[in-house]
Amino acid sequence: MKFDSPATTNPIDRGRVIGIPHDRIDGAAKVTGTAPYAYERHDAAPNAVYGWIVGSAIAKGRISAMDLRAAQAAPGVLGIVTHQNAGPLGKGDMNTAHLLGGPQIEHYEQAVALVIADTLENARDAARLVRIDYAPDKGRFDLAAERDRAAPPSGGFGGPADTRVGDFDGAFAKAAVKIDQSYTTPDQSHAMLEPHATTASWNGDRLTLWTANQMVAWNVGEIATTLKIPKENVRIVAPFIGGGFGAKLFLRADALLAALGARQVGRPVKVALARPQIPNNTTHRPATIQRIRIGADSNGVIDAIAHEVWSGDLPGGGAETAAQQTRLLYRGANRLTAHRLAVLDLPEGNAMRAPGEAVGLLALEAAMDELAEACGVDPVELRIRNDVQYDPEAGPQRPFSSRKLVECLRLGAERFGWNRRNPKPGQVRDGRWRIGMGVATAFRNNLVMKSGARIGVDAGGRVIVETDMTDIGTGSYTILAQTAAEMLGVPLDAVTVRLGDSRFPVSAGSGGQWGANSSTAGVYAAAAALRTKLAEKAGFPADKALFEDGLVRLGNQSQPLAQLAGREGLWAEDSMDYGDLAKRYAQATFGAHFCEVGVDIDTAEVRIRRMGGAFAAGRILNPKSARSQVIGAMTMGAGAALMEELVVDKRFGFFVNHDMAEYLVPVHADIPEQDVLFVEELDDKSSPMKAKGVGELGICGAGAAVANAIYNATGIRLRDYPLTIDRILGASSGHRVA
Ligand code: MOS
Repeated sequence: MKFDSPATTNPIDRGRVIGIPHDRIDGAAKVTGTAPYAYERHDAAPNAVYGWIVGSAIAKGRISAMDLRAAQAAPGVLGIVTHQNAGPLGKGDMNTAHLLGGPQIEHYEQAVALVIADTLENARDAARLVRIDYAPDKGRFDLAAERDRAAPPSGGFGGPADTRVGDFDGAFAKAAVKIDQSYTTPDQSHAMLEPHATTASWNGDRLTLWTANQMVAWNVGEIATTLKIPKENVRIVAPFIGGGFGAKLFLRADALLAALGARQVGRPVKVALARPQIPNNTTHRPATIQRIRIGADSNGVIDAIAHEVWSGDLPGGGAETAAQQTRLLYRGANRLTAHRLAVLDLPEGNAMRAPGEAVGLLALEAAMDELAEACGVDPVELRIRNDVQYDPEAGPQRPFSSRKLVECLRLGAERFGWNRRNPKPGQVRDGRWRIGMGVATAFRNNLVMKSGARIGVDAGGRVIVETDMTDIGTGSYTILAQTAAEMLGVPLDAVTVRLGDSRFPVSAGSGGQWGANSSTAGVYAAAAALRTKLAEKAGFPADKALFEDGLVRLGNQSQPLAQLAGREGLWAEDSMDYGDLAKRYAQATFGAHFCEVGVDIDTAEVRIRRMGGAFAAGRILNPKSARSQVIGAMTMGAGAALMEELVVDKRFGFFVNHDMAEYLVPVHADIPEQDVLFVEELDDKSSPMKAKGVGELGICGAGAAVANAIYNATGIRLRDYPLTIDRILGASSGHRVA
């Protein structure tokens, strides 16, 4: 099915199952421990043995010698994979460094060996006996030091490196009010609960990977390319995934080395990365330096806006496209955005939790707060004044498909009690706490991706959906079941959803918050095809037949789905493919974040007291799981503002705090109250579902609302994230948060 003109009324609009808050249909299996994750496929690979990855002890250079004898002689050891015996390997397009390193080393903790043994403990123990000598080279590990050598990136998410409209320099020079500030964000680690994990098994020349992966079809291609085997010989199975956050978009070392290990020892092999291996072995969100200049009139109306971003990656890697949202968010005739990429020899950077906007808005929305103060305009009102209903780079001929930022700001402000905020910083006290409120805009692009599904009715009248879509904790199972139930007029519990298997039709996968809208649209397409088949079988004209109560109806005639399906069942397969609506209309999701903090006058400890937000993201398919997505994302925003930071050892080139004891993320006690309001919106240009993405929207801007609240509480403006106690105290006058 092709979606190339705006949606009209369709069965989803009935809203009997779609749009209703449902518990997750996979919830019981998850909380009772019966949902099998990749490392737990005892059912599928009962005789599996264990691999342990040995990571490089240098960041850059060469392996000069490897001595495996002691490891090979250790108890239970069955084999050791290294570059010397792995056979010829290709490299996929989506990993920058090789997943099995050697003799060349590209980054610290790059996998250089897999030790396979009968037990996990024996494998881990023997891994310590692998002796490797290195010839290290000098590496580049400091973004600030490499900044002047940074160049425009060639690829990656988010369009061209630079954009320019009008005359930024001229307009900025003439502006009545000017903001020119630089902000920094650190390297960050995904920190999803389930580590990278794979069980691999060969049957002759055919490989099966039970693996934690967000994008099944991408990774069939990537592993086939890397192993130099036909794609048809690879099966990937990923029905349950314990969080991804972008870390599992791509083929990683666990999957490749499990496959190589299983081939070497002739048995299934399991490989999981231990938590301390993850930050340096896998990808991370790269640090940024961002300069923002805004020129406005004395009422805060923007005439000139520029956002320049510097980030770094390994040779051939991509940029953190943190200026993306600045191309679309606010008005202004004179505009400039630029991304520059430095070569760094740190572990590879890539997508993490709303790449681009998540850190771009930490800077832009702090700068907007500075502009509001400089103009003496309320920060909510400032954003409303600068709203634009079309792509401000392209002009009015490219409107937004739907854009309810102003509604989000107004409704969110009212619900949060924004009118109680004292605009003058440092005025409000509650015991030993200075209290402040902050606001920030939420913005995240809406991407649509081709997505397919197969759907059938079996002899018992049960509806079955199959697609290689993944559920990474997001609620895909439930919204796909809701879509099928709505389309075929059956209750939710009459639907079985099977996900995450490369034998099923290729879906959009889970990434970039495109999963929900795109994958349900794929089920919509397949269900539309099945409705036609069912109606034809009933002898009804397909466009007149009604599907409800498990029946196909025409006037006072009806036939049960089960009867039409017959003993064989009736199946249909289709995909949703997109025309150029995403080009003709800018498509994005919007919201407004509000935060109230308390800052201890002596210790500068920051406590978030309340977070609230209003969000417009098209039709909300399942308000319960959507809210859960948004509060999780707001929590990530709080982490980015206050604690998340990979600390770089600039001498040796690695992330020092590479475990969950030292890499801090918020816990429940850090987030006492979160309020989420969805603003009603149907986007008829995004898909027949009229939905958009919502998974990443909640992180975008949330951290800036925290930073702006800290400023309002204390009068201390920090521009280097995270806003830790030492930085707040360092910026305060005397020993107290004045
Ligand atoms: Mo997302 S960072 O594209 O999984």
